[in-house]
Amino acid sequence: MKALILSGGTGTRLRPLTYTNAKQLLPLANKPILFHIIEKVIEAGINKIGIIVGETSEAVKTAVGDGDRWNAEITYIYQPDPLGLAHAVKIAQDFIGEEDFIMVLGDNVFNMSLNSLIENFHINNADSAIMLYKVENPSQYGVAVVENNRLVRLVEKPKKFISDLIITGVYIFNSSIFAAIENTEPSARGELEITDAIQELLSTGGNVTYEIIQGWWKDTGKLQDMLDANQLILDEIITDNQIEQKDDTVYTGKLMISKSAVIKNSTIAGPTAIDDTAVIIDSYIGPYTSIGKGVEIINCEIDNCIILENTKLEGINKRINYSLIGKNVSIKAADKRPNANSFLVGDSSELYL
Ligand code: G1P
Repeated sequence: MKALILSGGTGTRLRPLTYTNAKQLLPLANKPILFHIIEKVIEAGINKIGIIVGETSEAVKTAVGDGDRWNAEITYIYQPDPLGLAHAVKIAQDFIGEEDFIMVLGDNVFNMSLNSLIENFHINNADSAIMLYKVENPSQYGVAVVENNRLVRLVEKPKKFISDLIITGVYIFNSSIFAAIENTEPSARGELEITDAIQELLSTGGNVTYEIIQGWWKDTGKLQDMLDANQLILDEIITDNQIEQKDDTVYTGKLMISKSAVIKNSTIAGPTAIDDTAVIIDSYIGPYTSIGKGVEIINCEIDNCIILENTKLEGINKRINYSLIGKNVSIKAADKRPNANSFLVGDSSELYL
């Protein structure tokens, strides 16, 4: 089996970060989202991976490389325009050949292993297997109707409620999907929808099975989703520190701290991840915070945040929480009069004071 990971989307809902970063390379617990997905695929024993790339292709290729670090063979497939998930599959046909393949969307994170869906696909001798997840508000997703334990209908973003089981971004196909895609028309949003192609497969007698996710699943399209996913991943840190005191700092909870981080006179309350060469002085770092490489936090209180590389925060007099802060950002208390806020802020930034 091969794997196809889709990493072409532009991430408009995460601007301004996605003006300068590929959405799939934004970090969760200090690791790019895309790496979390690649590792799931590798864990399932698949090492021939195709990655669909779009306008951020150079950044993705530079970060991921040729797959050596995972002992994998990575092939990049360029999709010039975001014409839909089924279009991405179509242009990957040369890479896939006649093999079965698992497809995962490059902005999805989840905690289940891919093995049981793969097993389900083989045991049922299926043409496709899809991973479903129960949500309260399914209208923004592809939705599946299941009756008597069988999939009966799939609809992309239905206007009226038909089911609370959404189609996550995890699918397995055999090569019959290519013919189904040929018989699929673009949707109202002008995209070739994989949901429609799977419906076509089902309507023409294809065997499509499913599994319902029991753990958690997140599509990381928006700020809140990123913070939630960061929280879910940090919760899975294995080490659970007893309260410990070192260099006038109190450490508690689950912590993943690089040896090269410098931490003094602070409180670090996990689950929290602190990356290489970060500096934390006279500060409180609360639960669900990921602090990137080279970040400096001096005399601040932070929790529930994702802070990217080399950002500096100093002397902020209110706690910073529920924030996603990009690379090389500087936020410091002004030490001059008048006592005012001053900004040099990029397009589409959001600040709440
Ligand atoms: C896409 C799929 C949809 C699926 C969702 C999962 O939606 O079209 O069927 O439920 O991913 O994240 P999009 O992100 O393109 O709106």
